[in-house]
Amino acid sequence: MAFYITTPIYYVNDKPHIGHAYTSVACDVLARYRRLKGEQVKFLTGTDEHGQKVEKSAAKAGVQPQAFVDEVSQSFRELCDTMNISNDDFIRTTEDRHKTAAQAIWQTMAEKGDIYLSSYAGWYSVRDEAFYAESELVEGKAPTGAEVEWLEEPSYFFKLSEYGDKLLEFYEKNPEFVKPASRFNEVKSFVKSGLRDLSISRTSFNWGVPVPGDEKHVMYVWLDALTNYLSALGYPKQDGDYATFWPADVHMVGKDILRFHAIYWPAFLMSANLPMPKRVFAHGWWTVEGEKMSKSLGNAIAPATLVDRFGLDQVRYYMLKAMPFGNDGDFAENRVAEVVNADLANNIGNLAQRTLSMIQKNCDGQVPKYDIHHAKPEDAALLDGAVKEALTAYHEAMDAGHLQQALNAIVKLGTDANGYIDQQQPWSLKKTDLGQLAVSENERTFNHLSAEYALKPGTALLKPEGVFPRIQAEAPITEAVNAG
Ligand code: MSP
Repeated sequence: MAFYITTPIYYVNDKPHIGHAYTSVACDVLARYRRLKGEQVKFLTGTDEHGQKVEKSAAKAGVQPQAFVDEVSQSFRELCDTMNISNDDFIRTTEDRHKTAAQAIWQTMAEKGDIYLSSYAGWYSVRDEAFYAESELVEGKAPTGAEVEWLEEPSYFFKLSEYGDKLLEFYEKNPEFVKPASRFNEVKSFVKSGLRDLSISRTSFNWGVPVPGDEKHVMYVWLDALTNYLSALGYPKQDGDYATFWPADVHMVGKDILRFHAIYWPAFLMSANLPMPKRVFAHGWWTVEGEKMSKSLGNAIAPATLVDRFGLDQVRYYMLKAMPFGNDGDFAENRVAEVVNADLANNIGNLAQRTLSMIQKNCDGQVPKYDIHHAKPEDAALLDGAVKEALTAYHEAMDAGHLQQALNAIVKLGTDANGYIDQQQPWSLKKTDLGQLAVSENERTFNHLSAEYALKPGTALLKPEGVFPRIQAEAPITEAVNAG
């Protein structure tokens, strides 16, 4: 089975921070999960490099846009290394394969009769790269708080207004299209309130994909950017990766960019006669120590700083644990230490350490003999009961994208297993029952969680080392950042 999952492509006007790291980690976890299930996975991430905002940022930095985007795009590749992201491809919208795809989709939409030339007069926010109606403005600003400017220029338009009913019908038939459901309701009400045609080209700057046949115009950055999900599959060619992986299984996005993925993107795809993605998953936003992340507060922590301080798996763990499904999450340093110490050090780490040291001390460092088919009731309660329940709960949560719940299922099993040890007191049994691991790399998939692949008695084990050391208190990073 094929599984195609995408992160949004990141704007290059900013350095990577934990918001970006989170979206990538969440996708990474789902991609690895599907690979462990034996599925053929394509996991795409990349950078969104066009638009007026990038052109302005480059000018401010005093460099050519291409040099500017090359440098920042590289920092997003490095983010993948820092966070151990297992992406299969990294798409950049300045690559030829992407421009070809973006122009091809434009062409198809134009041939359908969905694009016309007119002129745009209205409000635009460069920060959001979005057009806003007068009625949407709040005290003269975009609803996101971004500055808007009045724009008047010739523009191509997409007949979005003709897609309202088709979108509503599509939502009706695909009730799982947007998760969580509360966000789907927001999308539906927006569409029901009526869609206006969408301006999809600009003439007042150059940094973009030229409109086919009218090179004074560059494509609106969102039409350009959304097409990345197809360009990485070789579109407009419809064989190869396109045939295997389209439609996408999951587009993971932050709640701020749901409208683009759940309304514009399906409408563009309908216009281009292409199949709809199966799911758009909208996650919440991070605050840092209770505050919005912002440049002026200097609290947008670099992911590498966190990884140095707490450890990679620890940061990944906290990110998934502290962002409940569909809600916002707060990045608080003392919480990272608390959560890591409670779930990893004291629970899973302790379970590993006490089990493995027991084997070293009492079983000559080898997996002792045991007979899984003649287990005592207490052993069966753990092996047949708690382990199976945890696996079922874990799979259900992962399939639904409830990452926090999946972790909870694992931690509960750790608690059950620690409880079993407390109760059985194997240190007093010494020479009888027990089980580290020495499980070979290629036997670590879900298919190997069976009696046939259980730990083999007599297997020699290495000297145990703590897997999740406790995190000690230190000076907070955010203050250090602010002071610097
Ligand atoms: N370039 C567009 C996406 C185009 S996809 C066809 C974009 N880029 S972004 O860099 O601004 O944001 C990328 C992702 O990071 C979004 O999913 C956004 O929600 C996420 N985050 C940015 N800041 C965030 C937080 N503070 N918290 C959580 N996620 C946040 O939008």
